[in-house]
Amino acid sequence: MKLTREEQAWLAGDGGKALKRAMEIIVALGKIYGAKRLIPMVSVQISGVSYRNLGSPGLDFLQRWVEDGARVRVPTTLNPAAMDLADWRAQGFDAKFAAQQHAVIDTFRRMGVEEGHPCPTCAPYLIGNVPAMGEHIAWAESSAVSYANSVLGARTNREGGPGAIAAALTGRTAAYGLHLDAPRRATLHIQVNTPVCTRSDYSALGAIAGKVARNRVPYFSGLPVRRSDRHWEENLKALGAAMAATGAVALYHIADVTPEARAQSMLAPEAETLTIIDLAPGYAMLSDPVTEIDLVWFGCPHASLVEIAHIAELLRDQTLATPLWVTCARPVKEAARSLELAPVIEAAGGRLVADACMAIAPVRDLGFETVATASAKAAFYLRNLAGVAARFGTIAQCIEAAIRGTWSVA
Ligand code: F3S
Repeated sequence: MKLTREEQAWLAGDGGKALKRAMEIIVALGKIYGAKRLIPMVSVQISGVSYRNLGSPGLDFLQRWVEDGARVRVPTTLNPAAMDLADWRAQGFDAKFAAQQHAVIDTFRRMGVEEGHPCPTCAPYLIGNVPAMGEHIAWAESSAVSYANSVLGARTNREGGPGAIAAALTGRTAAYGLHLDAPRRATLHIQVNTPVCTRSDYSALGAIAGKVARNRVPYFSGLPVRRSDRHWEENLKALGAAMAATGAVALYHIADVTPEARAQSMLAPEAETLTIIDLAPGYAMLSDPVTEIDLVWFGCPHASLVEIAHIAELLRDQTLATPLWVTCARPVKEAARSLELAPVIEAAGGRLVADACMAIAPVRDLGFETVATASAKAAFYLRNLAGVAARFGTIAQCIEAAIRGTWSVA
């Protein structure tokens, strides 16, 4: 692999121990994937922030890196933590867990993430981290990777936790995979021959497509989405998150909608074709046959203001029988409060939860064994990672479950 003189010096240790370790990781990844060089990039998004997943070995690893001088060189954001960093008591977390989670955030603060004020979120593109088409970035959260590549036209592979930190410390990533032109062409053509209307329909479609596509690049035709639709970005956010969960899809194209597919033909001549005629298998694969609902969770990926406004509209003058949490980035939560949306949700008995993701939180320890959601990714991870039962359905069905406390099977 060809390195610049500066990169060679960093690898030799001229920039200190932390930078040397970061360069070793970037170069090792590049060698594994056959990269010929490193490329500078403009932003990083780091995953592996929840103390529940990191535990004390992960925290020690991060603290050692900081003590060795780790400091980010490019704008960097963080994936969600396990809890709202301010309102964790109201969520039911104990002080010991909160202290451990804050210690993790503190290591990233000391690295200079978001200039020392991290706002953990899996939708950094909703709080100003919006790379332009063709820009190279190194993001780790799978739904954000999908959104950045597909909806924004930026270029990133699905980075792992240490790889993303190493990219943030060096400002470099290895030139392979989706940073190059050829791997961005679609090798699976998905023809959609069934109505796709609601947010959960996009999620169910993504769940089916992701299972078939695995790590290929799909190209959709027949989808009714238009860039002039009010919720088109939210629908594509749900579609991409679902494919990233049931498969490992990091990039997709939609005929005449996503930026690269608008500019040129992105379908490889050898692409296989899959026709989807029914979304019911997508709904079925994400649901357990439970009726009592302990928690209704929206905001996977983190909710936009448009989504929060929609939920507030549905909750106006209602009284909830079941806790209802909407996860989002802290600046979005603050904006929802200024726009008088948060008080409507809270008056019904719901809660806006900043900084957090329920799929990586100790949900069962908080007393929740069944969760209803309109997100395929949430249902997939709750069932497979958090060990809770899930009901997957439309936003309206989830709201109804929160009001009644039970899932309507009629
Ligand atoms: Fe975000 Fe967690 Fe969903 S990281 S995409 S809220 S599983």
